[in-house]
Amino acid sequence: MHPTSLSKYRPFPAVILADRSWPDQTLRHAPEWCSVDLRDGNQALPQPMSIEEKLEFFDLLVRVGFKQIEVGFPSAADTEFNFLRRLIDENRIPEDVTIQVLVQTREPLIRRTFEAIDGAKRAIVHIYNSTSPLQRRVTFSDASRESIRQIAIDGAELVKKLVPTIPRTEVVLQYSPESFSDTELDFALECCNGVIDVWQPTPQKKMIINLPDTVQWTTPNIHADMIEWMCRHLCMRDSVIVSLHTHNDRGTGVAATELGLMAGADRVEGTLFGNGERTGNLDIVTVALNLNSHGIPTGLDFSDLQSIRTVYERVTRLSVPERQPYAGELVFTAFSGSHQDAIKKGLDRRAVETESDPDTPWGVPYLTIDPQDIGRSYEAIIRINSQSGKGGVAYVLDREHGFDLPKTMHPQVGKRIYDLADEYGRELTTDEIREAFFGEFVNIATPLDVIDYELLHQTNERGQVQCKASILLDGEKKAIEGFGNGPINAFVHALEGSGLKNFKVTDYRSHAVRGGSDASAASYVQVQHDDGRLLWGAGVDPSIEMAGLKALVTAWNLLRV
Ligand code: KIV
Ligand code: ZN
Repeated sequence: MHPTSLSKYRPFPAVILADRSWPDQTLRHAPEWCSVDLRDGNQALPQPMSIEEKLEFFDLLVRVGFKQIEVGFPSAADTEFNFLRRLIDENRIPEDVTIQVLVQTREPLIRRTFEAIDGAKRAIVHIYNSTSPLQRRVTFSDASRESIRQIAIDGAELVKKLVPTIPRTEVVLQYSPESFSDTELDFALECCNGVIDVWQPTPQKKMIINLPDTVQWTTPNIHADMIEWMCRHLCMRDSVIVSLHTHNDRGTGVAATELGLMAGADRVEGTLFGNGERTGNLDIVTVALNLNSHGIPTGLDFSDLQSIRTVYERVTRLSVPERQPYAGELVFTAFSGSHQDAIKKGLDRRAVETESDPDTPWGVPYLTIDPQDIGRSYEAIIRINSQSGKGGVAYVLDREHGFDLPKTMHPQVGKRIYDLADEYGRELTTDEIREAFFGEFVNIATPLDVIDYELLHQTNERGQVQCKASILLDGEKKAIEGFGNGPINAFVHALEGSGLKNFKVTDYRSHAVRGGSDASAASYVQVQHDDGRLLWGAGVDPSIEMAGLKALVTAWNLLRV
C-alpha cells in the first residue's frame, strides 16, 4: 500500500488476558469436525452446486468420515429445502451422521427450517445473528446491544418451543454470534450466555456455541486469546461444546484454528481445500493432515486425496491451487538440486532403515509426510528443470527408467541434462531426460564403434579371455584382438594393440535394467585419459558383455568430443 493509504487503518485491540495458558498447550487429539462445504462453501461458488452435485458431494463427505455435515440453509431457497428433503426422504443419511442446518434468528425462517428437518434421525439446528459493533452500526442502523441480544434470545426461545413439534428428530442446538471476530468479548459473552440460559444444556445433552472468525481482522494469537477468554467465562462450560469457524482473510485460517484448539475449543467447522466466501473457510484437509503428521488420528480419511480433489473440482468448478498444502500438484515436488539430493538420500536411507524396523519414524528432508500416505507416488517428487541438480537427474533415471548410475557419474550426466533444461527454458519430462541421457551418454558409436565380438576362454590361465572384435573407426572396418582377465580388459588390450589406447579404465559397474520390457543390461565404464581427464560412458545391450564394451567405446568417443 502507499503510505498515504495507511492513515485509514487502526491497530486491532489486544485481549487483556495476562495468564493466558494456550501457548503452553500441545494438540494431542482431534476435535469434532463439521463440514460446511454444502452451505458456507456452496454459497460462495460463482455457480452453486445442483442438487445432484450436492448429493454427490454429501456422499463424498460421508466417505471421508465426517459425522457432522451442514447441509444448507433450507429456509433460504427451494433448492436447499428440496436437497435436504431428498437426503431425509431417500434415507441417504447414514445412522452415525448428523446433519446441520443454518438459519438466521428470524421467526418464519426458523419455522421453515423445522419443517425441513422433520424426520431426520438427528439434526443440529444452528441459529445465528450478527453481533459486532460494525454490523450493529452499519447493517442494523445503529441497533443497541440490548436489541441485538434480544434477537438472539427470541430466536433461542422459538427454537426451544419448536423442538417438541418434531419428535421423530433428535435436535442438537447451536448458536453463533456471527462476526464474533470483531465483537466486544463481553457482549459476545452476554449473547452466548443468554442463549445458554434459554436452552439449558446438560453434560449429557450438550449444546454448541460456535465462535466464528467471520472476517479475520487480526493475528491468530489474538483469536486464541478471544477463544480462551470465552472458554473461561461461558456459563455451564461442561455442557457446552465450543466450536471454531475460521475464515482466511489474512491467510491464517489454519493457524487461527490450531491456536484456537490449544485455547480450549472442542470442535471445528471448515471445508475441503478451504472453499468459502472471499479467501475461503478453514481448510479442514490441512488441519487434519497436520494432526496426522504428528501421529494423531482424526477420524477423517484423506489417504486418496487425489480422488477427493477430483470430485471437489468437478462439482464446485474450482481448482485446487498448485501450492495448496498437501493437495496441490507441486507440494511434494523438488526442482532445486540441493533439495533433490537430500530427498533422494532420505528416501534411500529410509528404504534401508525400514527393512529392519518398519516403524522407523518418518524423516526425509523437505517432506513433512510420506506422500504415499495420501495417495501420491514418489514419481512426482523430483522434477527436472534448470535449477535441478545431479541427484535429481539420477533419481529420475533410477526410479523412472531403471538406470542406477554410479555416484561419480551423477555430476557429468546431471550437468548436461539441467543445461538442456536451461536451453529449453522449461521443465523436462521424464521421457526427455531418458532421451537426453541416451543421446549423450549411452552407446555413442562415432568415431569408434564395436560391431561384433567373440570371447575365447583360455584353458591355460584361469580367468584369461581372448577378445576378437570387429570395430569401425571413422567408417573403416577393422579386426582387433587382445587378452585380458575379463572381456573389458581384453578389449582394452585389443585397442592398445591397434594404437588406440591413451587412457586407463578406472571404474566399471553393470546391472540389469529394472522394469525394462527388453531385459537389457546397463554397463558404466569410467576412463581416465592420459591427460588426466576422467569421464564415464554407458552401454545398454541385451548382452551384459556387449553392454560393457559399448560403455567403454562410449567413454572413448566422449574423450574426443
Ligand atoms: O462465517 C460466519 O460467521 C458464518 C456463520 C453463519 C457461522 O458462516
Ligand atoms: Zn462462515
